[in-house]
Amino acid sequence: MTMPVPLPRIERFEKLAYGMFIHWGLYSQLGRGEWVKHIENIPISEYAKLKNTFTAAKFDAKAIARLAKDAGMRYICLTTRHHEGFSLYDTRGLTNFDAMHSPAGRDLVAEFVEGCRMYDIVPFFYHTTLDWYQDSFKNDFNAYLDYLNQSVEILCTHYGTVGGLWFDGNWSKPDADWKEARLYATIRKLQPEAIIVNNTGLFAQGALGNPEIDSVTFEQGRPEPMKRDGMPKYIAAEMCQTMNKHWGIGANDFCYLSPKEIIENLCACRKVGANFLLNVGLTAEGQIPEYETAALRRVGQWIKIHADVIYNGKPYKVTSAGQDFALERNGHIYLFIHNLGSGGDVNVTINERDKSPRAFSGIAQQVKSCKWMDNNQQLSFTQNSDGLFCFNAAANPYGSNFVIRVAGVV
Ligand code: GLC
Repeated sequence: MTMPVPLPRIERFEKLAYGMFIHWGLYSQLGRGEWVKHIENIPISEYAKLKNTFTAAKFDAKAIARLAKDAGMRYICLTTRHHEGFSLYDTRGLTNFDAMHSPAGRDLVAEFVEGCRMYDIVPFFYHTTLDWYQDSFKNDFNAYLDYLNQSVEILCTHYGTVGGLWFDGNWSKPDADWKEARLYATIRKLQPEAIIVNNTGLFAQGALGNPEIDSVTFEQGRPEPMKRDGMPKYIAAEMCQTMNKHWGIGANDFCYLSPKEIIENLCACRKVGANFLLNVGLTAEGQIPEYETAALRRVGQWIKIHADVIYNGKPYKVTSAGQDFALERNGHIYLFIHNLGSGGDVNVTINERDKSPRAFSGIAQQVKSCKWMDNNQQLSFTQNSDGLFCFNAAANPYGSNFVIRVAGVV
């Protein structure tokens, strides 16, 4: 079996590593998630009125891109149009159901792209394929597909080079002919370097699709290692996840990931070479809420310590007990050590005794040095002739807790 080699665009995508997903639309004004129209059975005529109060008054794309940068994220994927059918971009006459025809009166996708460019963040466009607004979606599917194709043409023509297009909704009509080949040919013609994703949804995580697709999706689920042997093309993987329980903002959703869990999920993705696309739902007026802002910044501080290996490290096969794993980068091996206790005085810290030595088999090279990446402290180790490598990881020193602590081995 031969192992396919990634195309340059796919290799670049994998190095983006960590991105921000943004869900924003008319639904954001209701604060009950992006499926609210469907779930509460709100008639279109009623729902469409939300356009008249959509102001985007506090949408500051530069501030969002800057936050993404501080958070260690390298790309942002914005819902340019979600299932509700409302477009954040100027549809240039295709429909009146867009931001230009709302009180916002601005092309919000143009602003988004401009903000991203300022901070060297790669813009991606989420675009729905399922549409609750267009009659043609139900009544004249071919006409609808023409409309979809024209919509994507607009996105590929007016906003400079984009990182990729991220489709979502084909799972809603599994037996339909979506004319995917035509849609992707439109993209390849206008944006040859764009990554193409088409979300396979909650029930088919990691499923392969049309050969033009560049990455599989793991929606709300930790990615499995990809079995690429014998594949005609190297395909990347991306896990997308909500920070709470909704993609669109939920005023009464208190069920948030902590910075700890975000770090764990990011590491679980990089362990198998997958990207992590973490979602925030913007407020009605277009801002990232406070908790999300703070949590992202906090994780960004952890990423800064390990930036090079997080973005560029490749999975490296070792065997270890528990969740520990390794990445490789330029001949260095990085060991990701989980569940270290907290060191310090027994009267003030718990789990003080968790000073477990960690053992890895599979490290092919003769190890010369082993150190913590966060403080460069050298660690004593042993490596026997079978290649079994052991070091005493000890507890997190009093005054710190890295959640996952990274040891660099060379
Ligand atoms: C699902 C949902 C959608 C969300 C998407 C993100 O397909 O329908 O609301 O945007 O997942 O992955």
